[in-house]
Amino acid sequence: MSLKNKHSKINVAVVGLGYWGPNLLRNFLDIKDYKVVYGCDLDKKNLEKYSSIYPSIKFINNFDEIIKDKNVDLVAIATPLSTHFRLAEKALKAGKHVLLEKPMTQNSKEASRLVKLAKRNNKILMVGYTFVYSEPIKKIKEILNKKEIGQIYYYDSTRINLGLIQNDVNVIWDLACHDFSIINYLFNKVPVAIQAFGSKFVNSRNEEIAHVIIKYDKNFTAHINVSWLSPVKIRIILIGGSKKMITFDDISPNEKIRIYNKSVDLESSQITPFKPAYRSGDVIIPYLEQNESLKNELLHLAYCIKNNKKPITSGEEGLKILKMLEASDISLKINKPVMLRH
Ligand SMILES: NC(=O)c1ccc[n+]([C@@H]2O[C@H](COP(=O)([O-])OP(=O)(O)OC[C@H]3O[C@@H](n4cnc5c(N)ncnc54)[C@H](O)[C@@H]3O)[C@@H](O)[C@H]2O)c1
Repeated sequence: MSLKNKHSKINVAVVGLGYWGPNLLRNFLDIKDYKVVYGCDLDKKNLEKYSSIYPSIKFINNFDEIIKDKNVDLVAIATPLSTHFRLAEKALKAGKHVLLEKPMTQNSKEASRLVKLAKRNNKILMVGYTFVYSEPIKKIKEILNKKEIGQIYYYDSTRINLGLIQNDVNVIWDLACHDFSIINYLFNKVPVAIQAFGSKFVNSRNEEIAHVIIKYDKNFTAHINVSWLSPVKIRIILIGGSKKMITFDDISPNEKIRIYNKSVDLESSQITPFKPAYRSGDVIIPYLEQNESLKNELLHLAYCIKNNKKPITSGEEGLKILKMLEASDISLKINKPVMLRH
């Protein structure tokens, strides 16, 4: 292993150069903590394309070459889900740190094996739940930490657009998993039960539209609406509280977050038992740093590798999310809520 001290560069291999891998490549190259030594893909066209853009990187189609190279410290895996476990297992066994794209593995058994392997080999295993590192979500966390919102009532997310219909996962695994990671990060609450409703129209294998309802402890509910069959792209999260409410519109170019000083109370002076009082105040649009989420994620990963710290989106966190995804699948099948065991 080449990482000698905190000032050494982390030698990275990026595996999978389809849609997402090149974003990893670009951001790794932009961070001084890293040196990208390999790009790897099975597709020759991708290798040719990126070797002409980045001539200093060695582009190969044989993953085992990376595993054998003692100079590689970190393997970043952005290949299809069905390959995640096999590649990550090999990398961890060879003593590499691993960044594994979401949703980690095909099932919780595999995820659990990777978590144990990383622990045994004292390696960092991070799952690429990028939203958690985005400036808007970091800002919402800051607001929640200040307890300005009061009691949290609900989380309501709409994540819909046309496509990209996936072959290997349903829309919950593709899109709602981001909400699962955001909720876990923001609220630190324990999910009690999950109910999912979904339909398949175009491809009879996987649901293309779905609604997921998650019951948490302390009367908190999350509702997530995901779709690959929407004519418009919408990415809106609403968080309702007893004192204030927050909206996060990820499509808005410069007003992504709004904090509404609005709430509903019961007027105690009223004789009638039910007389709600609606309070409405200022709307605040907080300033957000302009950092790319993926860059924040990779900076956090470098910090964790150099200081032997557990990432926010650790393997354990990825495993928690997988259990929620598996419960959603069972609920889709049996058409009933599924209780989550912890
Ligand atoms: N974090 C995020 O926000 C985010 C966004 C998009 C995709 N992703 C994740 O990234 C992963 C890849 O998604 P994508 O959309 O880029 O897929 P893609 O199909 O566009 O690209 C995958 C690439 O991996 C290559 N590949 C397949 N098997 C390989 C192997 N054994 N060795 C080397 N290369 C191999 C393929 O040739 C292809 O070029 C998925 O897990 C996806 O969920 C994450």
